[in-house]
Amino acid sequence: MAKYTRAPQMISDRLLPDPLPSEPMTLLASWLEEAASKKVQPNPDAIALATVDDRGRPDTRIVLCKDIDPEGASFVFFTNRESTKGRHLAHTPYASIVFFWDTLNLQARARGPVTLASEEESEAYFRTRWVISRVSAHASDQSRPIGSREEMVRKVEALATKLGVPPDGSKEADVPRPPQWGGYRLWAEEIELWIGQPGRVHDRARWSRTLTAIGDERHEGGPWTATRLQP
Ligand SMILES: Cc1cc2nc3c(=O)[nH]c(=O)nc-3n(C[C@H](O)[C@H](O)[C@H](O)COP(=O)(O)O)c2cc1C
Repeated sequence: MAKYTRAPQMISDRLLPDPLPSEPMTLLASWLEEAASKKVQPNPDAIALATVDDRGRPDTRIVLCKDIDPEGASFVFFTNRESTKGRHLAHTPYASIVFFWDTLNLQARARGPVTLASEEESEAYFRTRWVISRVSAHASDQSRPIGSREEMVRKVEALATKLGVPPDGSKEADVPRPPQWGGYRLWAEEIELWIGQPGRVHDRARWSRTLTAIGDERHEGGPWTATRLQP
């Protein structure tokens, strides 16, 4: 059996406020901001995103959380809507996400219903991506099989040529957003904030609220109820 060397116990003098704040998003947003500004890891906005398939079985992968709305308590990520996760969300529009900032000893979880992000939002974010990433959004039928790596590279190169982009992405071009590429917004029904503490006596609390769907694109939240949890 593999032996693991224990890292020295990290002592955090950070604790959740007592009494707990009436809403969790201000604190969560400040943790994300701190992780980004201190450059604690290459992708401080990385989240593990769990969806379920049509048999109710979970599936998890990392995506980047490109926007959070502290007021509406929602989180946005972008992907190919025909990917495995996209198909899961079309069938069961609920998900769970978790941020983990290892060197800060912090974890933040959220779960709730998922809607499509607006077309304007998807369009605006797509335009900020590197040109070659925009090309590969066209070239990749995300999550579908391909015979070889070479075949995939050729597919990207062919599309780059067609769209007037050198394969190394060294020249800008107008690469439109593919219709299947876009964002999703997770509306938090539950948020848990976790601060690692010595002796595994972690500091942990969960906030819950009831959501009401407003059309297909939005949810409105009632007041949060905060509960401390044992580690
Ligand atoms: C750090 C990191 C960031 C990623 N960001 C995204 C992302 O924002 N969107 C995305 O579709 N895939 C992203 N991926 C790739 C996904 O983990 C995954 O492989 C891909 O979305 C296909 O997932 P699916 O087949 O479950 O749909 C990222 C992977 C890593 C490791």
